[in-house]
Amino acid sequence: MSDGERFGYGIVGCGWVADAHAWGVRALAADGARLVAVADQDTARAEQLAARFGMPEVHGDYRQLLQRDDIQAVSICLPDFLHAEAALAAAQAGKHVLCEKPLALDVPSADAMLAACAQAGVQLGVVMNHRYAPDNILSKAALRDGALGRVLIGDCIHSSALTGDPDNTSPWRGRKGRAAGGILSTQAIHFLDLLLWFMGRAAAVQAYTATLVRHEQDYEDTVAVAIRLESGALATLVSTNGSPITDDFTGTRVEVQGSQGYLALEGDQLKTSNWRVDYEAPAVSLPAIPDDTKEIIFGLGHVYEVMDFVRAVRRAAPAPVPGVDGRHLMAVLAAAYMSANEHREVAITEPHDAYSASSPDPVQLLWAGPSKASGAFLTVSGEAPTAFK
Ligand SMILES: NC(=O)c1ccc[n+]([C@@H]2O[C@H](COP(=O)([O-])OP(=O)(O)OC[C@H]3O[C@@H](n4cnc5c(N)ncnc54)[C@H](O)[C@@H]3O)[C@@H](O)[C@H]2O)c1
Repeated sequence: MSDGERFGYGIVGCGWVADAHAWGVRALAADGARLVAVADQDTARAEQLAARFGMPEVHGDYRQLLQRDDIQAVSICLPDFLHAEAALAAAQAGKHVLCEKPLALDVPSADAMLAACAQAGVQLGVVMNHRYAPDNILSKAALRDGALGRVLIGDCIHSSALTGDPDNTSPWRGRKGRAAGGILSTQAIHFLDLLLWFMGRAAAVQAYTATLVRHEQDYEDTVAVAIRLESGALATLVSTNGSPITDDFTGTRVEVQGSQGYLALEGDQLKTSNWRVDYEAPAVSLPAIPDDTKEIIFGLGHVYEVMDFVRAVRRAAPAPVPGVDGRHLMAVLAAAYMSANEHREVAITEPHDAYSASSPDPVQLLWAGPSKASGAFLTVSGEAPTAFK
Protein backbone atom coordinates (compact mmCIF):
# COMPACT_ATOMS: atom_id res chain seq x y z
CA MET A 1 0.00 0.00 0.00
CA SER A 2 1.51 3.36 -1.00
CA ASP A 3 1.62 6.37 1.33
CA GLY A 4 -1.08 7.98 -0.80
CA GLU A 5 -3.43 5.17 0.20
CA ARG A 6 -2.68 5.50 3.91
CA PHE A 7 -4.65 7.76 6.19
CA GLY A 8 -3.39 8.57 9.68
CA TYR A 9 -5.91 9.22 12.45
CA GLY A 10 -5.53 10.56 15.98
CA ILE A 11 -7.82 10.51 19.02
CA VAL A 12 -7.65 13.39 21.49
CA GLY A 13 -9.16 12.42 24.86
CA CYS A 14 -9.15 8.75 25.86
CA GLY A 15 -12.13 8.46 28.21
CA TRP A 16 -15.47 6.71 27.93
CA VAL A 17 -16.37 7.53 24.33
CA ALA A 18 -12.93 7.16 22.73
CA ASP A 19 -13.19 3.40 22.06
CA ALA A 20 -16.18 3.97 19.80
CA HIS A 21 -14.03 6.23 17.60
CA ALA A 22 -11.13 3.79 17.61
CA TRP A 23 -13.45 1.03 16.37
CA GLY A 24 -14.48 3.26 13.49
CA VAL A 25 -10.86 3.72 12.41
CA ARG A 26 -10.18 0.00 12.78
CA ALA A 27 -13.19 -0.80 10.59
CA LEU A 28 -11.44 1.13 7.78
CA ALA A 29 -8.19 -0.83 8.01
CA ALA A 30 -8.72 -2.28 4.53
CA ASP A 31 -8.91 1.29 3.20
CA GLY A 32 -5.48 2.11 4.66
CA ALA A 33 -6.78 4.10 7.65
CA ARG A 34 -4.76 3.63 10.81
CA LEU A 35 -4.91 4.91 14.38
CA VAL A 36 -1.47 6.51 14.59
CA ALA A 37 -1.59 8.21 18.00
CA VAL A 38 -3.84 8.93 20.97
CA ALA A 39 -3.56 11.69 23.57
CA ASP A 40 -4.79 12.21 27.11
CA GLN A 41 -3.42 14.20 30.01
CA ASP A 42 -4.04 11.01 31.98
CA THR A 43 -1.42 8.96 30.14
CA ALA A 44 -2.53 5.74 31.86
CA ARG A 45 -5.90 6.09 30.11
CA ALA A 46 -4.17 6.80 26.80
CA GLU A 47 -1.95 3.75 27.25
CA GLN A 48 -4.97 1.56 28.01
CA LEU A 49 -6.71 2.73 24.83
CA ALA A 50 -3.50 2.19 22.87
CA ALA A 51 -3.20 -1.35 24.24
CA ARG A 52 -6.75 -2.14 23.08
CA PHE A 53 -6.19 -0.77 19.58
CA GLY A 54 -2.86 -1.94 18.18
CA MET A 55 -0.49 0.23 20.21
CA PRO A 56 -0.65 3.63 18.53
CA GLU A 57 1.75 6.16 20.04
CA VAL A 58 0.71 7.89 23.25
CA HIS A 59 0.97 11.63 23.97
CA GLY A 60 0.22 13.35 27.28
CA ASP A 61 -0.13 16.71 25.51
CA TYR A 62 -2.54 16.64 22.57
CA ARG A 63 -0.66 19.49 20.90
CA GLN A 64 2.22 17.09 20.29
CA LEU A 65 -0.16 14.71 18.55
CA LEU A 66 -1.40 17.56 16.37
CA GLN A 67 2.14 18.35 15.23
CA ARG A 68 2.60 14.90 13.68
CA ASP A 69 2.67 14.89 9.92
CA ASP A 70 1.49 11.27 9.73
CA ILE A 71 -1.98 12.26 11.00
CA GLN A 72 -4.57 13.79 8.65
CA ALA A 73 -7.67 13.82 10.89
CA VAL A 74 -8.53 13.69 14.57
CA SER A 75 -11.49 12.86 16.77
CA ILE A 76 -11.93 15.25 19.68
CA CYS A 77 -13.22 13.24 22.65
CA LEU A 78 -12.41 15.76 25.37
CA PRO A 79 -14.83 17.27 27.91
CA ASP A 80 -17.18 19.84 26.34
CA PHE A 81 -15.23 22.91 27.51
CA LEU A 82 -12.09 21.77 25.65
CA HIS A 83 -13.74 21.06 22.26
CA ALA A 84 -13.22 24.58 20.88
CA GLU A 85 -9.62 25.01 22.02
CA ALA A 86 -8.63 21.59 20.65
CA ALA A 87 -10.50 22.12 17.36
CA LEU A 88 -8.79 25.47 16.82
CA ALA A 89 -5.39 23.89 17.49
CA ALA A 90 -6.20 20.98 15.17
CA ALA A 91 -7.33 23.31 12.38
CA GLN A 92 -4.16 25.37 12.74
CA ALA A 93 -2.18 22.15 12.43
CA GLY A 94 -4.10 21.31 9.22
CA LYS A 95 -6.05 18.34 10.58
CA HIS A 96 -9.66 17.52 9.70
CA VAL A 97 -11.76 17.52 12.88
CA LEU A 98 -14.52 15.16 13.98
CA CYS A 99 -15.74 16.63 17.27
CA GLU A 100 -17.87 14.92 19.85
CA LYS A 101 -21.19 16.51 20.73
CA PRO A 102 -22.04 19.07 21.87
CA LEU A 103 -19.90 20.96 19.38
CA ALA A 104 -18.86 23.57 21.96
CA LEU A 105 -19.91 25.28 25.18
CA ASP A 106 -21.78 28.03 23.34
CA VAL A 107 -22.52 29.59 19.94
CA PRO A 108 -19.52 32.00 19.83
CA SER A 109 -17.14 29.07 20.45
CA ALA A 110 -18.89 27.05 17.73
CA ASP A 111 -18.52 30.01 15.35
CA ALA A 112 -14.80 30.23 16.15
CA MET A 113 -14.43 26.51 15.35
CA LEU A 114 -16.25 26.88 12.02
CA ALA A 115 -14.14 29.93 11.09
CA ALA A 116 -10.84 28.26 12.03
CA CYS A 117 -11.62 25.12 10.02
CA ALA A 118 -12.82 27.12 7.01
CA GLN A 119 -9.68 29.25 7.10
CA ALA A 120 -7.44 26.20 7.35
CA GLY A 121 -9.32 24.39 4.57
CA VAL A 122 -10.15 21.41 6.78
CA GLN A 123 -13.52 19.77 7.44
CA LEU A 124 -15.34 20.09 10.75
CA GLY A 125 -17.80 17.32 11.58
CA VAL A 126 -19.83 16.73 14.72
CA VAL A 127 -20.75 13.34 16.14
CA MET A 128 -24.45 12.56 15.82
CA ASN A 129 -24.23 8.80 16.00
CA HIS A 130 -27.98 8.15 16.04
CA ARG A 131 -28.18 9.39 12.42
CA TYR A 132 -26.44 6.16 11.43
CA ALA A 133 -29.12 3.78 12.68
CA PRO A 134 -30.57 2.13 9.54
CA ASP A 135 -34.18 2.97 10.40
CA ASN A 136 -33.28 6.61 11.04
CA ILE A 137 -31.62 6.72 7.60
CA LEU A 138 -34.73 5.13 6.09
CA SER A 139 -36.97 7.65 7.86
CA LYS A 140 -34.83 10.55 6.67
CA ALA A 141 -34.99 9.25 3.09
CA ALA A 142 -38.79 8.89 3.32
CA LEU A 143 -39.17 12.44 4.65
CA ARG A 144 -36.85 13.79 1.97
CA ASP A 145 -38.94 11.99 -0.66
CA GLY A 146 -42.18 13.49 0.65
CA ALA A 147 -43.53 10.11 1.73
CA LEU A 148 -45.43 11.75 4.59
CA GLY A 149 -46.74 14.62 2.48
CA ARG A 150 -46.36 17.99 4.15
CA VAL A 151 -44.63 17.49 7.51
CA LEU A 152 -46.80 18.96 10.25
CA ILE A 153 -45.70 17.79 13.72
CA GLY A 154 -42.89 15.85 15.37
CA ASP A 155 -42.17 14.79 18.92
CA CYS A 156 -39.62 13.01 21.03
CA ILE A 157 -39.79 11.52 24.52
CA HIS A 158 -36.47 10.36 25.96
CA SER A 159 -35.21 9.29 29.34
CA SER A 160 -31.90 7.90 30.48
CA ALA A 161 -29.70 7.98 33.54
CA LEU A 162 -26.56 7.71 31.42
CA THR A 163 -25.34 11.25 32.02
CA GLY A 164 -24.43 10.61 35.64
CA ASP A 165 -20.90 10.21 36.86
CA PRO A 166 -21.28 7.70 39.70
CA ASP A 167 -17.58 6.75 39.70
CA ASN A 168 -16.51 10.41 39.59
CA THR A 169 -14.25 9.75 36.61
CA SER A 170 -15.64 12.72 34.63
CA PRO A 171 -15.75 15.60 37.11
CA TRP A 172 -16.63 18.05 34.33
CA ARG A 173 -20.11 16.57 33.83
CA GLY A 174 -23.00 18.67 35.03
CA ARG A 175 -20.69 21.56 35.92
CA LYS A 176 -21.12 25.12 34.67
CA GLY A 177 -18.22 26.25 32.51
CA ARG A 178 -17.16 22.66 31.83
CA ALA A 179 -20.28 20.98 30.41
CA ALA A 180 -22.54 22.76 27.92
CA GLY A 181 -25.66 21.92 29.91
CA GLY A 182 -27.65 19.14 31.56
CA ILE A 183 -29.78 16.46 29.91
CA LEU A 184 -30.48 18.74 26.94
CA SER A 185 -26.82 18.98 25.87
CA THR A 186 -25.70 15.53 26.96
CA GLN A 187 -28.29 13.20 25.45
CA ALA A 188 -31.48 14.92 24.38
CA ILE A 189 -29.28 16.73 21.83
CA HIS A 190 -29.18 13.49 19.79
CA PHE A 191 -32.95 13.38 19.45
CA LEU A 192 -33.24 17.12 18.93
CA ASP A 193 -30.83 16.50 16.05
CA LEU A 194 -33.02 13.73 14.67
CA LEU A 195 -36.11 15.95 14.80
CA LEU A 196 -34.24 18.73 12.95
CA TRP A 197 -32.67 16.26 10.47
CA PHE A 198 -36.15 14.94 9.73
CA MET A 199 -38.07 18.25 9.81
CA GLY A 200 -35.60 21.07 9.04
CA ARG A 201 -34.07 23.74 11.20
CA ALA A 202 -35.61 25.60 14.12
CA ALA A 203 -36.92 29.16 14.00
CA ALA A 204 -38.01 29.61 17.64
CA VAL A 205 -38.30 27.69 20.89
CA GLN A 206 -40.07 27.84 24.20
CA ALA A 207 -38.70 25.69 26.98
CA TYR A 208 -39.02 24.62 30.61
CA THR A 209 -36.13 23.15 32.57
CA ALA A 210 -36.24 21.48 36.00
CA THR A 211 -33.90 19.78 38.45
CA LEU A 212 -35.99 17.00 39.90
CA VAL A 213 -33.45 14.36 40.91
CA ARG A 214 -29.81 15.40 40.36
CA HIS A 215 -29.58 18.24 42.82
CA GLU A 216 -25.78 17.97 42.89
CA GLN A 217 -25.60 19.17 39.25
CA ASP A 218 -25.40 22.81 38.16
CA TYR A 219 -27.79 22.07 35.29
CA GLU A 220 -31.25 20.71 34.57
CA ASP A 221 -31.96 16.99 34.66
CA THR A 222 -35.36 17.37 33.01
CA VAL A 223 -36.44 19.48 30.05
CA ALA A 224 -39.46 20.20 27.85
CA VAL A 225 -38.94 22.16 24.62
CA ALA A 226 -41.52 23.31 22.07
CA ILE A 227 -40.01 24.12 18.68
CA ARG A 228 -41.36 26.11 15.73
CA LEU A 229 -39.53 24.94 12.62
CA GLU A 230 -38.63 27.27 9.75
CA SER A 231 -41.05 25.27 7.58
CA GLY A 232 -43.93 26.21 9.89
CA ALA A 233 -44.18 22.69 11.34
CA LEU A 234 -44.18 22.28 15.13
CA ALA A 235 -42.31 19.85 17.38
CA THR A 236 -41.83 18.98 21.04
CA LEU A 237 -39.09 17.24 22.97
CA VAL A 238 -39.26 16.04 26.58
CA SER A 239 -36.35 14.36 28.31
CA THR A 240 -35.18 13.39 31.77
CA ASN A 241 -32.07 12.05 33.42
CA GLY A 242 -33.96 10.83 36.42
CA SER A 243 -35.14 7.49 35.05
CA PRO A 244 -33.60 4.09 35.87
CA ILE A 245 -32.92 3.41 32.16
CA THR A 246 -29.18 3.20 31.48
CA ASP A 247 -29.12 3.54 27.71
CA ASP A 248 -30.37 5.97 25.07
CA PHE A 249 -32.65 3.48 23.32
CA THR A 250 -35.08 1.85 25.76
CA GLY A 251 -36.95 5.00 26.77
CA THR A 252 -36.73 6.90 23.49
CA ARG A 253 -39.56 7.44 21.04
CA VAL A 254 -39.50 9.81 18.03
CA GLU A 255 -42.58 10.43 15.89
CA VAL A 256 -43.33 12.56 12.82
CA GLN A 257 -46.76 13.11 11.29
CA GLY A 258 -47.57 14.70 7.95
CA SER A 259 -50.51 15.37 5.69
CA GLN A 260 -50.19 11.96 4.00
CA GLY A 261 -48.55 9.66 6.51
CA TYR A 262 -46.71 9.19 9.79
CA LEU A 263 -43.84 7.31 11.36
CA ALA A 264 -42.87 6.26 14.88
CA LEU A 265 -39.40 5.15 15.97
CA GLU A 266 -38.62 3.49 19.27
CA GLY A 267 -34.98 3.19 20.26
CA ASP A 268 -33.89 3.96 16.66
CA GLN A 269 -36.17 1.24 15.27
CA LEU A 270 -39.09 2.01 13.02
CA LYS A 271 -42.16 0.59 14.76
CA THR A 272 -44.93 2.21 12.73
CA SER A 273 -44.91 3.75 9.28
CA ASN A 274 -47.65 4.80 6.96
CA TRP A 275 -46.33 6.32 3.76
CA ARG A 276 -48.07 8.07 0.86
CA VAL A 277 -49.78 5.27 -1.09
CA ASP A 278 -47.38 5.31 -4.06
CA TYR A 279 -44.22 5.40 -1.92
CA GLU A 280 -41.83 2.49 -1.76
CA ALA A 281 -39.38 2.87 1.10
CA PRO A 282 -35.72 2.07 0.36
CA ALA A 283 -33.99 -0.91 1.93
CA VAL A 284 -31.04 0.23 4.01
CA SER A 285 -28.14 -1.96 5.00
CA LEU A 286 -24.87 -0.91 6.55
CA PRO A 287 -21.42 -2.44 6.13
CA ALA A 288 -20.02 -5.36 8.06
CA ILE A 289 -17.79 -4.23 10.89
CA PRO A 290 -15.54 -6.04 13.38
CA ASP A 291 -17.67 -8.32 15.59
CA ASP A 292 -16.59 -6.99 18.97
CA THR A 293 -17.76 -3.44 18.17
CA LYS A 294 -21.22 -4.61 19.17
CA GLU A 295 -20.27 -4.14 22.81
CA ILE A 296 -20.39 -0.35 22.54
CA ILE A 297 -23.15 1.02 24.76
CA PHE A 298 -23.89 3.90 22.34
CA GLY A 299 -24.81 1.52 19.53
CA LEU A 300 -22.82 1.33 16.30
CA GLY A 301 -23.41 4.88 15.10
CA HIS A 302 -19.97 6.14 16.07
CA VAL A 303 -18.31 3.41 14.10
CA TYR A 304 -20.24 4.27 10.94
CA GLU A 305 -19.86 8.02 11.42
CA VAL A 306 -16.07 7.80 11.82
CA MET A 307 -15.97 5.61 8.69
CA ASP A 308 -18.21 8.02 6.80
CA PHE A 309 -16.20 11.04 7.96
CA VAL A 310 -12.86 9.54 6.90
CA ARG A 311 -14.28 8.49 3.55
CA ALA A 312 -15.70 11.97 2.99
CA VAL A 313 -12.56 13.93 3.82
CA ARG A 314 -10.41 11.57 1.75
CA ARG A 315 -12.44 12.47 -1.31
CA ALA A 316 -12.45 16.18 -0.36
CA ALA A 317 -16.19 16.08 0.39
CA PRO A 318 -17.86 17.91 3.29
CA ALA A 319 -18.15 16.20 6.66
CA PRO A 320 -21.31 14.02 6.52
CA VAL A 321 -22.66 15.56 9.73
CA PRO A 322 -21.37 19.08 9.18
CA GLY A 323 -20.16 21.48 11.86
CA VAL A 324 -22.90 23.94 10.89
CA ASP A 325 -25.49 21.45 12.14
CA GLY A 326 -23.61 21.25 15.44
CA ARG A 327 -23.58 25.03 15.58
CA HIS A 328 -27.34 25.20 14.95
CA LEU A 329 -27.88 22.75 17.81
CA MET A 330 -25.88 25.08 20.07
CA ALA A 331 -28.12 27.95 18.98
CA VAL A 332 -31.25 25.91 19.82
CA LEU A 333 -29.78 24.96 23.21
CA ALA A 334 -28.89 28.58 23.98
CA ALA A 335 -32.38 29.70 22.98
CA ALA A 336 -33.98 26.96 25.08
CA TYR A 337 -32.00 27.89 28.18
CA MET A 338 -32.79 31.58 27.64
CA SER A 339 -36.46 30.76 27.16
CA ALA A 340 -36.57 28.69 30.36
CA ASN A 341 -34.87 31.47 32.34
CA GLU A 342 -36.90 34.34 30.92
CA HIS A 343 -40.24 32.51 30.47
CA ARG A 344 -40.71 33.58 26.86
CA GLU A 345 -40.33 32.42 23.28
CA VAL A 346 -36.82 32.91 21.89
CA ALA A 347 -36.22 33.24 18.14
CA ILE A 348 -33.23 31.66 16.38
CA THR A 349 -31.45 33.33 13.48
CA GLU A 350 -29.37 30.85 11.51
CA PRO A 351 -26.64 32.42 9.33
CA HIS A 352 -25.31 29.10 8.02
CA ASP A 353 -26.55 26.40 5.68
CA ALA A 354 -27.49 24.15 8.61
CA TYR A 355 -29.88 21.19 8.22
CA SER A 356 -30.28 22.18 4.62
CA ALA A 357 -31.08 20.34 1.43
CA SER A 358 -27.42 20.67 0.49
CA SER A 359 -26.44 18.45 3.42
CA PRO A 360 -25.25 15.04 2.26
CA ASP A 361 -28.06 12.84 1.05
CA PRO A 362 -28.72 10.08 3.61
CA VAL A 363 -28.60 7.47 0.89
CA GLN A 364 -25.02 8.51 0.09
CA LEU A 365 -23.78 7.86 3.60
CA LEU A 366 -20.81 5.56 3.64
CA TRP A 367 -20.55 5.38 -0.13
CA ALA A 368 -17.59 6.03 -2.31
CA GLY A 369 -14.47 5.52 -0.27
CA PRO A 370 -11.11 6.19 -1.89
CA SER A 371 -10.50 2.50 -2.36
CA LYS A 372 -12.81 0.84 -4.85
CA ALA A 373 -11.62 -2.53 -3.58
CA SER A 374 -13.55 -2.10 -0.35
CA GLY A 375 -16.75 -1.62 -2.33
CA ALA A 376 -19.89 0.35 -1.76
CA PHE A 377 -21.25 0.26 1.74
CA LEU A 378 -24.81 1.39 2.00
CA THR A 379 -27.29 -0.45 -0.15
CA VAL A 380 -30.47 1.34 -1.06
CA SER A 381 -32.88 -0.81 -3.02
CA GLY A 382 -29.82 -2.76 -4.16
CA GLU A 383 -28.52 0.11 -6.29
CA ALA A 384 -25.78 2.68 -5.90
CA PRO A 385 -26.95 6.30 -5.81
CA THR A 386 -26.44 7.86 -9.24
CA ALA A 387 -23.74 10.22 -8.04
CA PHE A 388 -21.50 7.33 -7.13
CA LYS A 389 -22.20 4.81 -9.84
N1 LIG B 1 -21.96 10.82 21.08
C1 LIG B 1 -22.11 10.16 22.21
O1 LIG B 1 -22.94 9.26 22.31
C2 LIG B 1 -21.23 10.49 23.38
C3 LIG B 1 -21.10 9.58 24.44
C4 LIG B 1 -20.26 9.91 25.50
C5 LIG B 1 -19.57 11.10 25.50
N2 LIG B 1 -19.73 11.99 24.47
C6 LIG B 1 -19.02 13.27 24.45
O2 LIG B 1 -17.62 12.99 24.32
C7 LIG B 1 -16.86 13.90 25.10
C8 LIG B 1 -16.01 13.09 26.07
O3 LIG B 1 -16.88 12.36 26.92
P1 LIG B 1 -16.36 11.10 27.77
O4 LIG B 1 -17.59 10.49 28.34
O5 LIG B 1 -15.44 10.26 26.97
O6 LIG B 1 -15.55 11.87 28.92
P2 LIG B 1 -14.48 11.27 29.91
O7 LIG B 1 -14.46 12.18 31.09
O8 LIG B 1 -14.69 9.81 30.12
O9 LIG B 1 -13.14 11.43 29.08
C9 LIG B 1 -12.53 12.67 28.82
C10 LIG B 1 -11.03 12.45 28.74
O10 LIG B 1 -10.41 13.70 28.43
C11 LIG B 1 -9.20 13.76 29.17
N3 LIG B 1 -8.76 15.15 29.29
C12 LIG B 1 -9.33 16.13 30.05
N4 LIG B 1 -8.64 17.28 29.87
C13 LIG B 1 -7.65 17.02 28.97
C14 LIG B 1 -6.62 17.82 28.38
N5 LIG B 1 -6.47 19.10 28.65
N6 LIG B 1 -5.78 17.22 27.51
C15 LIG B 1 -5.90 15.90 27.23
N7 LIG B 1 -6.85 15.10 27.77
C16 LIG B 1 -7.72 15.67 28.62
C17 LIG B 1 -9.55 13.12 30.51
O11 LIG B 1 -8.36 12.69 31.18
C18 LIG B 1 -10.44 11.97 30.07
O12 LIG B 1 -9.71 10.78 29.85
C19 LIG B 1 -17.87 14.83 25.79
O13 LIG B 1 -17.98 16.03 25.09
C20 LIG B 1 -19.18 14.06 25.73
O14 LIG B 1 -20.31 14.91 25.63
C21 LIG B 1 -20.54 11.69 23.43
